Amino acid sequence: MRRKLVVGNWKMFGRLARNQALLEGVAAGVRDLRNTDCAVCVPYPYLAQAQALLQGSNVAWGAQNMSHHEEGAYTGEVAAGMLVEFGCKYVILGHSERRGLYHESDETVAMKFDAALKAGLQPILCVGETLAEREAGITEEIVARQLDEVVNRAGVKALEKAVVAYEPVWAIGTGKTASPDQAQAVHAFIRQRVAKLDGQVAQGLCILYGGSVKAANAAELFSMADIDGGLIGGASLVAEDFVAICRAGK
Ligand code: 13P
Repeated sequence: MRRKLVVGNWKMFGRLARNQALLEGVAAGVRDLRNTDCAVCVPYPYLAQAQALLQGSNVAWGAQNMSHHEEGAYTGEVAAGMLVEFGCKYVILGHSERRGLYHESDETVAMKFDAALKAGLQPILCVGETLAEREAGITEEIVARQLDEVVNRAGVKALEKAVVAYEPVWAIGTGKTASPDQAQAVHAFIRQRVAKLDGQVAQGLCILYGGSVKAANAAELFSMADIDGGLIGGASLVAEDFVAICRAGK
């Protein structure tokens, strides 16, 4: 049985005072939780706050992006080594908002993935199709392309230290969740694709679902065979909701 993992993606939300209440609320709410790992990925300026408040708790923390460069003249960028200094365990890479709004290519995402692993971070690789792609019947093609680029560069064994998140773009922030069967089908596809290269890696791979996960639908999604937890946007900004989602995994 794979352990469940629930990760909050705060996106560009947060203020010091609010964060404190949220982080303390989440840490308290999952203190006794044993069967699920929990984490929050906060904006860069709040990593120190997350580190100070979550140290010693059941909640890990991470970032939402990083540069693939180790250091250098890259104004405005943040390196993996910097995230490590603030105790990050995870870094989200290739989120659809990065791919769509900031034109990150599959190749860039793969380079970041490599750099994250080399620094000792656990990348959460996001993949997923747009509504137009789903309607055109090319969901699997898109997800395979996004996944293959990373596997070809880093090797399939790299997935032992990584997490994959399936986030259909049409379900993000829209209130429109993929049905458990729709999500399960893509999760199974991802696992089978990895299994063609390495059965053991595929079996152990943690595949999260993201896209309008709420306290009300989390348990059903997480009960599917290949859904190992969630990557949570909006609902991760309300302690009570996020804690309920963390507790929804059996
Ligand atoms: P929502 O949960 O707000 O739909 O966001 C999902 C997401 O993008 C998490 O990374």
